[in-house]
Amino acid sequence: MANQPVIPDWRMGGITVPEVEDYLYSLLPPRDEVLSEMEAEAARNDVPIVGPAVARVFYQLATISKAKKVFEMGSAIGYSTIWWARAVGDGGRVIYTDGDRKNADKARRYFDRAGVSQRITVRVGDAFEILSEEKEPYDIIFNDIDKTDYPRVVRVALPHLKSGGLFITDNVLWSGKVAQPNPDAHTKAILEFNKLIYASKDLFTTILPLRDGISVCVKK
Ligand SMILES: C[S@@+](CC[C@H](N)C(=O)[O-])C[C@H]1O[C@@H](n2cnc3c(N)ncnc32)[C@H](O)[C@@H]1O
Repeated sequence: MANQPVIPDWRMGGITVPEVEDYLYSLLPPRDEVLSEMEAEAARNDVPIVGPAVARVFYQLATISKAKKVFEMGSAIGYSTIWWARAVGDGGRVIYTDGDRKNADKARRYFDRAGVSQRITVRVGDAFEILSEEKEPYDIIFNDIDKTDYPRVVRVALPHLKSGGLFITDNVLWSGKVAQPNPDAHTKAILEFNKLIYASKDLFTTILPLRDGISVCVKK
């Protein structure tokens, strides 16, 4: 597309050196029409989707762990949601949450076109409140909401995760700002979050330095 940036903003950067980052993205197989269109829309409108390199990790983690129930905190136009929905397969369920109704309307149209609507429950509102209403434990909880809320997510999400379940979070290296002096409010929240997930006796944590950093925690 003529007005699409060569390197979309959602790729972020600041973690892996640019040449390596380009190389990693050059290896990725093309996505289908719906995902490609979502990537283009995200690039045009600055929607901070995780993008295909990270989404493939989600797909792998969900399939390896045979996850059937995924709760997503912060879904935007539903790009990561579609990857989860494809990974959980028939009979699987993904809860989409976003505070913005316009995002949810767009996401629903993409879900229909991607053929995964049956596996996704769309909830508009505060992800904390929606998760708090849930009774059944989840196999995976994915956190991608406002960064200043990250420390609170640890406390709220863990009781809703099954033992052996995965708690996965995007942007935990925040363009490398976590390793720079004078952190702003967002960076401070992420620094606190990272300390919490490594210190927790209930979690076994790793950070994968892909794109903007993903934390993967297994609940003991
Ligand atoms: C980074 S985007 C999500 C991108 C999506 N996970 C993807 O990769 O395709 C974050 C989204 O979270 C939503 N959000 C932020 N805080 C929220 C909250 N407390 N509850 C529900 N949605 C929230 C915003 O409206 C925004 O659309």
